[in-house]
Amino acid sequence: MDLDSLKTTACLDVKNKRVLVRADLNVPVKDGKVTDATRLERVVPGLLDLAKRGAKVIVISHFGRPKGAPEAEFSLKPVADRLGQLLGRPVAFADDCVGEAARKTVAALQPGGIAVLENLRFHKGEEKNDPEFAAALAKLGDIFVSDAFSTAHRAHASTDAITRLLPSYAGPLMMEEISALRSVLDKPKRPVAAVVGGAKVSTKIPFLTNLAAKVDKLIIGGGMANTFLLAQGVSIGRSLAEPGFVGTAREIMHAAKARSCEIVLPADVVVAAEFEAGARSRVCPVLETPPDQMILDVGPKAIAHYTDVLSRCSTLLWNGPLGAFEIDPFGDGTFRLARAAAAATQAGKLTSVAGGGDTVAALNAAGVTQQFSYVSTAGGAFLEWLEGRELPGITALLRAAS
Ligand code: 3PG
Ligand code: MG
Repeated sequence: MDLDSLKTTACLDVKNKRVLVRADLNVPVKDGKVTDATRLERVVPGLLDLAKRGAKVIVISHFGRPKGAPEAEFSLKPVADRLGQLLGRPVAFADDCVGEAARKTVAALQPGGIAVLENLRFHKGEEKNDPEFAAALAKLGDIFVSDAFSTAHRAHASTDAITRLLPSYAGPLMMEEISALRSVLDKPKRPVAAVVGGAKVSTKIPFLTNLAAKVDKLIIGGGMANTFLLAQGVSIGRSLAEPGFVGTAREIMHAAKARSCEIVLPADVVVAAEFEAGARSRVCPVLETPPDQMILDVGPKAIAHYTDVLSRCSTLLWNGPLGAFEIDPFGDGTFRLARAAAAATQAGKLTSVAGGGDTVAALNAAGVTQQFSYVSTAGGAFLEWLEGRELPGITALLRAAS
């Protein structure tokens, strides 16, 4: 993959052109409010630049995981409103990303205007990488810009098929992410620790075998740890886990052992009967997890152990929180490890790279984002990049550039 051959929009004449920008507006939203706007803030400069150069900017994105049909809960409208505030200008919104609603919204755009179209995943064709759906999208633009590194691991209509239909370019955030990750990760200083947590176990677990071959320590937390604990025969009560992936977890443990990669799991955990703010919680050894409770964070012994492991590593790659950090008091483990990593980075002892929507939100909540070496907007794509895979969204842009 010759990443240097990617074409960017830098020297392109976009005046009066309809520029379709694939962004990743998949941000955390609670009660109709964006709770962490990092992904929006990071895409804003590129959108403003196109608008200032006289383009008609049409932003397309997925949001959440609806099943190929409209669902009010997954509307991009509240996200578009927040994006408008960050852009400091009104943003038009079309309540469908293709068809008449989209056509009218785009036709009304003036040069310098910006529109957001409704969730791409309200159509089955998006995730199917359907050429017809891609053609319906392509009709809305003259140029396609992919500025969503964080969705580049998906071969979907808006990341892949569309690049066969319109002149296609990599946006500035895409370029920034690629060059930052290359400069840190091409020859990482060893030992390397990876922290993997979060709830998307089935999406992430397939990548851990190869990751275990690349890193020296694999620290596992969150829902991912529960699945590994299950694989070791530990009772985890009512905790979130994916029993269907226990076999995969065992294979990863074998593969890690064969490659001298140490897998680090929590020795103690925070448990509660309810997943609610302020729920009564307590710390217990992981082997004593009560059958009627769930694990919602790692415990203080686990954090002390993780911190000790980190203090002997030179590079940290982090994707996924260690607990349900968005609900008090289950963020403690994630926040404490984040602070330890930030302090080691500031002391010049650690190169720290983190990625993922929830991870970034957790670092923001801990107040340490600026103290990491680099923070990527990408979660799944970041993991696949670490694992050394080709990302279909980037392959598509390279093909378009050749
Ligand atoms: C993410 O949040 O990692 C990206 O927006 C991709 O979302 P997805 O895992 O639902 O495809
Ligand atoms: Mg996410």
